[in-house]
Amino acid sequence: MPKNRVPFGRRAFLLGLGVLAGAGALAVADRSEDGTSRTTLTMSGEGSLRERATRKSLIYGAAARYKTLSTDSDLAASFVKECAMLVPENELKWNVIRAQPNSFNFAPGDWMANFAKKHDLLFRGTPLVWYKSFPKWFESKVTSQNAEKMLVEHIEKVAGHYAGKIHSWDVVNEAINIEDKNPDGLRNSPWLKFLGPDYIEIAFRAAAQADPQALLVYNDYGLEYDTPAETARRNAVLKLLERLKSKGTPVHILGVQAHLLRRGNEMSDFNPATVKAFLDDVASMGLKIMITEIDVTDEKLPKDVAARDRIVASAYEDYLSVALENPATIGVLTWGLSDRSTWLTKNKPRADGAPVRPLPLDAQLNRKLAWQAIARTLDKAPERPSQHQTRT
Ligand code: G3I
Repeated sequence: MPKNRVPFGRRAFLLGLGVLAGAGALAVADRSEDGTSRTTLTMSGEGSLRERATRKSLIYGAAARYKTLSTDSDLAASFVKECAMLVPENELKWNVIRAQPNSFNFAPGDWMANFAKKHDLLFRGTPLVWYKSFPKWFESKVTSQNAEKMLVEHIEKVAGHYAGKIHSWDVVNEAINIEDKNPDGLRNSPWLKFLGPDYIEIAFRAAAQADPQALLVYNDYGLEYDTPAETARRNAVLKLLERLKSKGTPVHILGVQAHLLRRGNEMSDFNPATVKAFLDDVASMGLKIMITEIDVTDEKLPKDVAARDRIVASAYEDYLSVALENPATIGVLTWGLSDRSTWLTKNKPRADGAPVRPLPLDAQLNRKLAWQAIARTLDKAPERPSQHQTRT
């Protein structure tokens, strides 16, 4: 085992001990699951994640869906309380915004942009270019002859529509897939097939033209664990970023998704030194870093809610402690705010049928141990210079 790797079981045990030792002082939720009230004396105080992050000139935010945010006023109120940034989970994807080939459906995205403005939230876009979530017409209409035109036109229209309202755009999402065995680890996306590796540069240049103020992000997953597969992914991402930078491509941020425990309980493969070295390499290229989609899959964790919540919180704390230490990291976004609305309900359901608990707030919008863990890592994070999370 590498020197700095901490056996996960031991960390979970220690966290468990901490929780027990804190007893009343660490009671996490304002109300327990059955709705009965409980004395709350949290270790890290009552300030929201937004306040804690802002104190350090960091951003805390979350993804949300139009349908949820526009109909669930309690969730919307929690969102505004905890978050400084809103990310539409699906509303700016091709299958929504380009459901029809010759028109653009900006309505759900516009509603979310207005919600963000009204509540003083930064607004972030994802993704302009991805290998999935295409509309049905895409396959029959896009060819190697018109792909560049389609790509650039899409970026001009969408990034142009939101120009001036967007903090950052995931210009290219998930371009690496080592299993496809292409040179440089690039994924077999339609864009690679039609345009070759240059599609990435083309996309960034078009985005910079369409919205000169937005920070432009390359976003990817599978960069957390000290396994051969994720080491290969980290190396491929670094090479891609180096190539882009060497050509003067306007890329400003690496977005690290950080969907933790995707395969089970693999925090035993978490090595802080590996993540630190990777993020240092990214920062040394002059790039900022954003943790863009963090959540913790609890599919294979114990059924006992208290035990499960401790492991989930511990994963957040382990990862974010390292990520927020890097001065180039400008913010943390969870992929959803409350367990009542998360992609994992559908995509990684538990075999025992128990509701999943991957996010900072539970389904009743109470703060969980995961919230505490994020709060602590924000409190411990070194302060950044003000404005470092924007282009200026
Ligand atoms: O909106 C329709 C709804 O009308 C319909 O009733 C329902 C039937 O299943 O489908 C709904 O759309 C689904 C949508 O999620 C909302 O639930 C889509 O089929 C489904 O494909 C979509 O999945 C999203 C997925 O990306 C694919 O776009 C997830 O919500 C979203 O969380 C997930 O997010 C991705 C990031 O963009 C990139 N990184 C990984 C992350 C998780 O996979």
